[in-house]
Amino acid sequence: MRILLINSSFRKNGATAKILNEILKVLKTHDDIDASILHLSDFKLDYCKGCSQCFQTGECYLQDDAEHISNLIAEADAVVVGAPTYASSIPGQMKTLIDRGHFVMEQLNHGKYTLSVATYENADGISVVKSLNKLFLYSGAVLSGSICIKTVFNQEPLNSRSKKDNVRKQAERLYWNMTKRAKGNIIHRIIHHTVFHVGIKPFVLKEKTRYSGVLDHWKRRGIFNAAV
Ligand SMILES: Cc1cc2nc3c(=O)[nH]c(=O)nc-3n(C[C@H](O)[C@H](O)[C@H](O)COP(=O)(O)O)c2cc1C
Repeated sequence: MRILLINSSFRKNGATAKILNEILKVLKTHDDIDASILHLSDFKLDYCKGCSQCFQTGECYLQDDAEHISNLIAEADAVVVGAPTYASSIPGQMKTLIDRGHFVMEQLNHGKYTLSVATYENADGISVVKSLNKLFLYSGAVLSGSICIKTVFNQEPLNSRSKKDNVRKQAERLYWNMTKRAKGNIIHRIIHHTVFHVGIKPFVLKEKTRYSGVLDHWKRRGIFNAAV
């Protein structure tokens, strides 16, 4: 089983990366797991231009790494996203990936097991957790858990036994949920069902040609097969 961990901080040895590395260490103790960390800072990601062509073609016309990262996410069985708090929200590089990555309309995380990781120094780490969790739920994932850790800049984020234990527990829970094919929290499933079946699907079906790329993604991933 493949697990992709995404570090959206530009600091490859920062607090977020250190927590992701701890999760990776736990996951790698399982022989059936193939896990690795992707640092967004290694990739070229331009802003979404808002042309909406991807809804029809199924992919972005910009020649950078957005499609490659989306494909890596699509191929994974589980996705862990780590983000520092910037100005009470997710950092710009993560927002750019969300805008470019075919997440919600194309249901990129459909059926995947996910874990959100936020770090912060003073306030609003919880806003980052909420943004990541909303992304996961709206894009069809099973949310395994969330980690939100307060740090001091350039100091070890897992500086207590309880923080380290919590991170390890969440990593093990992600593994357990994947292997047991857990269905996830009932409230989360109701939220996704409502967002998809009441919000997104009727909206897309009203204009099948304009959203043919979206419908193709759904068909290929076994999410929904629209009668043409
Ligand atoms: C531009 C910028 C904005 C930040 N804004 C906040 C903030 O609103 N609230 C907060 O608690 N910490 C804030 N921080 C601190 C980071 O969230 C914190 O140091 C985080 O752990 C850094 O993670 P990293 O080492 O993985 O980059 C900010 C840091 C930067 C660089």
